[in-house]
Amino acid sequence: MIETIQLSKAFKGKTVVEDVDLYLDKGESVGLLGPNGAGKSTTISMISSLLKPTSGDVKLHGKSMISNPSDLRKVLGVVPQEIALYQELTAYENLKFFGRIYRVPKDQLELRIQETLELVGLKDRQKDIIKTFSGGMKRRINIASALLHNPSILILDEPTVGIDPQSRNYILEMIRQLNENSQTTVLYTSHYMEEVEQLCNRVYIMDHGKVIASGTHSELLSILSNEDTMRVQLNQIHDNFINAIQNIDVVRQVEESGDGIKIIAQKSANIISTLVRIADQENIKILNFQMENPSLEDVFLHLTGRTLRD
Ligand SMILES: Nc1ncnc2c1ncn2[C@@H]1O[C@H](COP(=O)(O)OP(=O)(O)OP(=O)(O)O)[C@@H](O)[C@H]1O
Ligand SMILES: [Mg+2]
Repeated sequence: MIETIQLSKAFKGKTVVEDVDLYLDKGESVGLLGPNGAGKSTTISMISSLLKPTSGDVKLHGKSMISNPSDLRKVLGVVPQEIALYQELTAYENLKFFGRIYRVPKDQLELRIQETLELVGLKDRQKDIIKTFSGGMKRRINIASALLHNPSILILDEPTVGIDPQSRNYILEMIRQLNENSQTTVLYTSHYMEEVEQLCNRVYIMDHGKVIASGTHSELLSILSNEDTMRVQLNQIHDNFINAIQNIDVVRQVEESGDGIKIIAQKSANIISTLVRIADQENIKILNFQMENPSLEDVFLHLTGRTLRD
């Protein structure tokens, strides 16, 4: 339905998005995952024709949208990372303004405003001015404004960052329903792995401007099929200990996690005895040891050597 072909962007000679190929089939819910600065927002800005690519293409049904994005704009709704609302206007007035920008036909605008307000659960607050809204409510109005023209593709750029858990759940559930009931195609950007696991059937992982892995949940997990993930609870942690574990030859990654460490090691390697010996040397008590099913977070750690929130 929509695809990017070797999409790249450089700012003043510095490449921040490089040869990104991604596609969305009709009705899919796809995640775009990556740490700060990975190039997610830049990619989205290019897809939504707010930013001109340095090279590469964005196609809708096989047709390039770079020089004439009007077809794309009709079917695409974008919720930007930054909240863009007029603080002194009411929710209703904001939506009316955005409705005109999105060229919602005049005779439909009133109905669409009420429908989208209903959808984001803020119909009863429409007469209140935006600056009296909580962060989560502002986000929901921001999402409503992207839905006014009834887009068949919805792109959301980290819509749950910095908001309360209740609004977050509301937003996630709303997106799920739009995708499942209304067949809206969704591209959901986040650095919260668990949101993407919950919402998306396919995921692209970006780092340093490139797509470093993509696939369904299980395809991504199979990257780790040669590894074991272990969680070790400890009475204390210090750098010497972590360095010593890192130096065990079958260990791929070590990461501080909760009140202990997480180790990714070569599959079936027996490292317990080595672990116990090192802990002994470092005067550390092992309180608990547990094998774990790997998560997408582990896949990311494996591919980049970092956690998503580093
Ligand atoms: N207008 C710009 N001029 C120069 N550099 C830019 C510009 N916009 C983005 N960048 C750089 O491009 C890189 C990617 O930024 P981008 O905003 O796309 O990352 P992101 O994955 O969305 O990160 P975050 O999770 O923090 O939102 C960063 O290094 C950023 O500093
Ligand atoms: Mg961003």
